[in-house]
Amino acid sequence: MLDNLELLNYAKQACENAYVPYSNFHVGACALYDTGNYYVGCNVENASYGLSLCAERNAMSNAIVAGEKGKLVKIAVYSKDRANCMPCGACRQWMAEFKKDDNLQIVLESENSKCAVFTIEELLPYGFVL
Ligand code: THU
Repeated sequence: MLDNLELLNYAKQACENAYVPYSNFHVGACALYDTGNYYVGCNVENASYGLSLCAERNAMSNAIVAGEKGKLVKIAVYSKDRANCMPCGACRQWMAEFKKDDNLQIVLESENSKCAVFTIEELLPYGFVL
């Protein structure tokens, strides 16, 4: 299983591929499943701004495309343009969809390259469920 720093490093690498001609705000993500498999994503923008895709959702989509059947246990989010890049509300709802449990860990890089860890329970309390 990847540890938090390794996960953040993969998110960093993906961040380099961000397609961000409009915001110039680069985001990378790496999603780790209980199978040990991991998937990366970056944000991909569009001239029709609202069609832009977030890094986290691209990472989770990549897992589905690859046939991943495990559950999401950790996801690292990284921006080279800001420390502590928190996931947006839509991405939090997506994380909840694939989480193993409420202890799903969201790993960020804070100042001085330290890891900050939050749980989905902290970031999306009383989230929508069907
Ligand atoms: N963005 C992400 O990739 N993830 C988030 O959780 C928040 C925002 C992207 C979308 C857009 O390309 C850029 O950051 C600025 O909003």
